Amino acid sequence: MKNLKVRLSTPTVDNIELSQIKKIFDNSWLGYGPNVGKFEKAWSSYFKVKHSIGVNSCTAALHLSLAVNNFKKNKKVLVPAMTFSASAAAVLYCGLKPIFVDIDPKTLVMSYEDLKKKYTKDCVAIITVHFNGQPCEMEKIVPWAKKKKLIVIEDCAQTCGGTYKGKKLGTWGGFWLF
Ligand SMILES: Cc1ncc(COP(=O)(O)O)c(C=O)c1O
Repeated sequence: MKNLKVRLSTPTVDNIELSQIKKIFDNSWLGYGPNVGKFEKAWSSYFKVKHSIGVNSCTAALHLSLAVNNFKKNKKVLVPAMTFSASAAAVLYCGLKPIFVDIDPKTLVMSYEDLKKKYTKDCVAIITVHFNGQPCEMEKIVPWAKKKKLIVIEDCAQTCGGTYKGKKLGTWGGFWLF
């Protein structure tokens, strides 16, 4: 039978990354070495942000960005119905409830229309996942979220470094001071 599997995306890591990893291994400083600080500085400069914190995975980043808010247990977080499991698992790690928002069948990212339908008063945050390089409609989601006093966490695991409407993905969301 014909193999009908479609490869959606392939990683773009190559010898540059491998040689850097080799240098670190040769140095035998595998944890929080000086390269982490350099990386954070370079990251901040690329994203034009004041602060960046390097962590070991996107799962850890999602977990931390929820945990720092100390939300009351069982509060709800809106996440897209189609994503990598970590986007919803991080919510569970914090004792919160993921509320699944349908995706737009054309773009495969969170539908803004369904987001508004799924919102209830006990929602505290949204995790927008820019899936497969496709950005969410941040120009609609962010102003709406501000009105609802929801924090917006962007999961950029699949869009690292991308730009949407002239603004880097990962810099649209945030914690608002009410
Ligand atoms: C959308 C999305 N979020 C989170 C993750 C988790 O990333 P990590 O494996 O770095 O924890 C992935 C991993 O593929 C992902 O695709």
